[in-house]
Amino acid sequence: MNHCPCTLWLTGLSAAGKTTLADALAHAFAARGVACEVLDGDIVRQKLSRDLGFSRRDRSENIRRVAQLCQQLNDTGIVAIAALISPYRADRAMARRIIKKNRFIEVYLATPLRVCEARDPKGLYKRARAGEIANFTGIGDAYEAPRSPELSFDTSWQPLSDCVAATLRILEMRDAPVQDRD
Ligand code: ADX
Repeated sequence: MNHCPCTLWLTGLSAAGKTTLADALAHAFAARGVACEVLDGDIVRQKLSRDLGFSRRDRSENIRRVAQLCQQLNDTGIVAIAALISPYRADRAMARRIIKKNRFIEVYLATPLRVCEARDPKGLYKRARAGEIANFTGIGDAYEAPRSPELSFDTSWQPLSDCVAATLRILEMRDAPVQDRD
C-alpha cells in the first residue's frame, strides 16, 4: 500500500470509538509493514500533556503539542494516528496547518452523544451529569463537528472492519508523494 507518512487525525466525543479505531489501524499498518505511532488522548494526558487541564486554552495547547509530534513523526517517515477529542474547529485547523494540508486526514467519529453516553466505559458521562466534572465535552462543553472531514464513521452501526477498510482505501487512493512537496 501507499504509505506516504500522513497523519490520521481521529476526532469525536469521548467513547465515540477513537481509540478502538486507532488501535485497529495500527494493527493493520503493522501487518503491512508500515511504521506508525498512535497518540491517544488518555495516554498523552498522562505524559506529554500531564500539566494541562480541559480549559479551552489547555485543550488548544494539547492539540498543538500533539500536532507537532505528528509532524515530526511524518518527517521521519512514520504514519501518525492521533486520537483526541479535539472539540474545536479552530484547533483542528491549527493541527492541519502544523502537519501540512496534504498530510492531514481528518477522521470524524460521528457516533451520537446518546450512544457514547450509554457506553460510558469510564463512567465519566455519569459523573459529568452529576456535576462532578466541569466542562465535560458533550455535557458542559461544546463539540464542534467537522464540516468536511475526509472520513466520517458512526460506530453505533458501522462495524470496525468497515471503518478500517475505508480508511486504508482512502490512503491508497490518495495522490500521495513519498516526500513532502513543500
Ligand atoms: S482534548 O479535548 O484535549 O482533545 P483529550 O482527547 O486529550 O481531550 O482527552 C480526553 C480524555 O480526557 C477523555 O477521554 C476523558 O477520559 C478525559 N477527560 C477528563 N476531563 C474531561 C473533560 N472535561 N472533557 C473531556 N474529556 C475529559
